[in-house]
Amino acid sequence: MARPKIGLVGAGQIGGNLALLAAQKELGDVILFDIPQAEGMAKGKALDMQQLSTVERFDSRLSGTSNYDDLAGADVIIITAGIPRKPGMSREDLLGTNLKIMTDVATNLKRVCPDAFMINIANPLDAMVYALKQITGGTKQKIVGMSGILDTARFKSFISMELGVSMKDVTGFVLGGHGDDMVPITRLTTVGGVPVTELIPPARLEEIVTRTRKGGAELVGLYKTGSAYFAPAAAAVEMAEAYLRDQKRVLPCCVWLEGEFGINDLYFGAPVVVGADGIEKVVTFELTDDEKAAVAKSEASVRKTVAETKL
Ligand code: APR
Repeated sequence: MARPKIGLVGAGQIGGNLALLAAQKELGDVILFDIPQAEGMAKGKALDMQQLSTVERFDSRLSGTSNYDDLAGADVIIITAGIPRKPGMSREDLLGTNLKIMTDVATNLKRVCPDAFMINIANPLDAMVYALKQITGGTKQKIVGMSGILDTARFKSFISMELGVSMKDVTGFVLGGHGDDMVPITRLTTVGGVPVTELIPPARLEEIVTRTRKGGAELVGLYKTGSAYFAPAAAAVEMAEAYLRDQKRVLPCCVWLEGEFGINDLYFGAPVVVGADGIEKVVTFELTDDEKAAVAKSEASVRKTVAETKL
């Protein structure tokens, strides 16, 4: 049986890390796509990593291209085409530029691989996933966004650093849009099964929630020329792996909601089951009044940006 085909649209900072992680996990053969002006970078990264594969000993094949036809029949597509933030910018400030890029990307993907499981990472995340869905006409099972795993990774890493415990033992998740109003659910966050609310005082926990919400901006401030790229890549590869290996993982992803959590017809972050059918199920639960209010605030922000796409 042929190996799965994984197309990475955008061979920049996140694209390169996606390629490395996907290839090292032997998820399939990896094709790095970028615009003609950056084709050399796509081909160069692929060749460099192919050489790395002899040292790290993995069998994935890597290639670079600026021809969409090379993505024909791809099983998974991960999109990072677009500009990243610079200090002082919000994700929403990227909309004008990145929507034009997404329109071009989605139009081409619809032609060459309409049935692929498509994961978008470009920002503003929730609105870009919506644009991808509108333009490709793909299904809600197959058109998704990566944000909740990244936001959750930030939240969990801050908790594990605060308590000096293994990050393996911190569980929890972040609901909502990939913006400053995201909703870390502290009530359901545990450390080795113990509620985090028993271990960290409320005021300190609130500081950790705030740092999580601003986690992307913190990295933009440090990098200065771009935004985060290691953790975003790892998060999207986790989603791709769950799909390709039918793992039925329960992961927070940006998905199309139709009434879950009281939200209708919107791409929004929620816990879902990811397996061979893509997004197989949204995992719902009852929110407290405070959580409902926080989710409503995040929903309003996402709806505003989605409306600006005019799609
Ligand atoms: N088609 C394909 N690729 C494109 C297009 C296009 N129309 N326009 C730009 N690109 C490519 C660029 O050439 C570049 O190689 O997208 C790549 C983006 O890479 P980086 O600038 O390194 O950005 P990165 O850090 O990878 O972030 C990409 O993800 O997290 C988000 O906010 C971030 O929107 C940004 C995206």
